[in-house]
Amino acid sequence: MSRERKQAVPAFIDLAAQRERLGDSVERAISKVLNHGQFVLGPEVGELEARLADFSGARHCVSCANGTDALLLALMAEGVGPGDAVFVPAFTFVATVEVAMLCGATPVFVDVRPDTFNLDVDSLEAAIGEAKKFGLKPRCVIPVDLYGQPADYRAIGEIAGKHDLLMVADAAQSFGASLDGKKVGTLASYTATSFYPSKPLGGYGDGGAVFTDHDDKAARLRALRNHGKGPGRPDTEYLGVNSRLDSIQAAILLEKLRLFPAEIPPRQERADRYNAGLASIAKVPELMAGATSVWAQYTIVTENRDALAKACREAGVPTAIHYASALNCLPPYRETLKSPTGLRQAEWLADRVISLPMHPYLTAAAQDLIVATVRRALTSSKSVVVHAAE
Ligand SMILES: Cc1ncc(COP(=O)(O)O)c(C=O)c1O
Repeated sequence: MSRERKQAVPAFIDLAAQRERLGDSVERAISKVLNHGQFVLGPEVGELEARLADFSGARHCVSCANGTDALLLALMAEGVGPGDAVFVPAFTFVATVEVAMLCGATPVFVDVRPDTFNLDVDSLEAAIGEAKKFGLKPRCVIPVDLYGQPADYRAIGEIAGKHDLLMVADAAQSFGASLDGKKVGTLASYTATSFYPSKPLGGYGDGGAVFTDHDDKAARLRALRNHGKGPGRPDTEYLGVNSRLDSIQAAILLEKLRLFPAEIPPRQERADRYNAGLASIAKVPELMAGATSVWAQYTIVTENRDALAKACREAGVPTAIHYASALNCLPPYRETLKSPTGLRQAEWLADRVISLPMHPYLTAAAQDLIVATVRRALTSSKSVVVHAAE
C-alpha cells in the first residue's frame, strides 16, 4: 500500500506500525525461547512479572493466560462463591460479570456515570442494600477502568471500607494509567489486566496478569493458576485452574514493554486532538481530576450513531461499538439483580457510543480525515450534543 493510501485509510489500532518500531527484536526473543525450550512458565515469564511489577509499583505481578482468568483468579483467591454478592458495572465487557457467575457468586449490576463511563458510587450504595434484601453477603466490587481511565477508586474505596467489600480492579483496558499519581496495579487489593493484542500493552495472543501488594495473596494466585500447586510442592493444595502464560508470549510482551512508556503520551496527544475537533459536535470523553488514561478506546456519544457509522464506513474510517448492549440486556444476564437506581445511563450509553481509531501511531493527516468525516456526518444529520440519559 502506498504511503498516501496508508494515511488516507487509518487503522483502528495499528499493530503493523508498532511492529515496524519493534524491528526484529520480537523474532529474536521468540527464537531464544525456541532454543531453550521452556515453553510454559519459562524464564521470560518471571522476568516479565518482575518488570511489570516494577513498572506499576505493585509488590507482585502474577501472570496468567488472559484477562478474564486474571479476574477469576482474584475471586478464587478470596474464596468468593455461593451466597456472595459481587457488584459489577452494567456497561463493560462481558468478562467482568462472567467471572462472578463462574465462581458461583451472585452478580449485582450497578449503573455507570455518563461523563467517565465508569461505576456510579450512588448506584453502588443502593445495590449493596438490594443485595442484603435478597439475603446475600455483600462481598466484592469490581470497578472497571473503561476505555483506559481508572474508575473512581477514592469514592469506591470509601464505600468498600464501610461495607467490608473486597476491591478487584478490572484494569484490562487501563494498564499504564494512574490516579492521583498512583499507577494502575496499586489502586485495589487485586488488579487484573489483559494483554489481548488490541490492549494498550498487548501481546500477539492471549495473556493476562494480576497485581497485588500482599505476599500471601500473590502466593495463592501463583498456586491457583497452576492447578492449585504451590511452588516446589508436588501436590495440589487448592482447587485451581490451568492459566499459565506461555514463555513465547512473555518474551513478546517484554519487547513491547520496552516501547510501552513512550507510547502513552502520544495516545493522550491524539485524544486531545480529537477532543478539540469534536467537542462542539458530540459528547467527548472526560477525565476525572487526578486521573490519566491510556486511551484503550477513544469513544464519543452521539444521538446519530448509525448515520455516523455509515459515513465513516463510506470514507474508509473504521469504527467499533464498545458496547452495543448493557450487560443486563444480554440473554444470560437478563434476570441478574440490579441496583434499585436502575441502569439507565448504561442502557443509554449502549445505544449511543461509538469508538474511533486510536493508537500511538495515528498520523495528524489521518486524524484530520477522521475528524472531518465525523463533523460532516454529524452536521448533516443536525446532531446536538447530549450528555446523559434524562
Ligand atoms: C473490561 C474488560 N474486562 C476483561 C477483559 C477480558 O480480557 P481477556 O480478553 O484477556 O480475557 C477485557 C478484554 O477485552 C475487557 O475489556
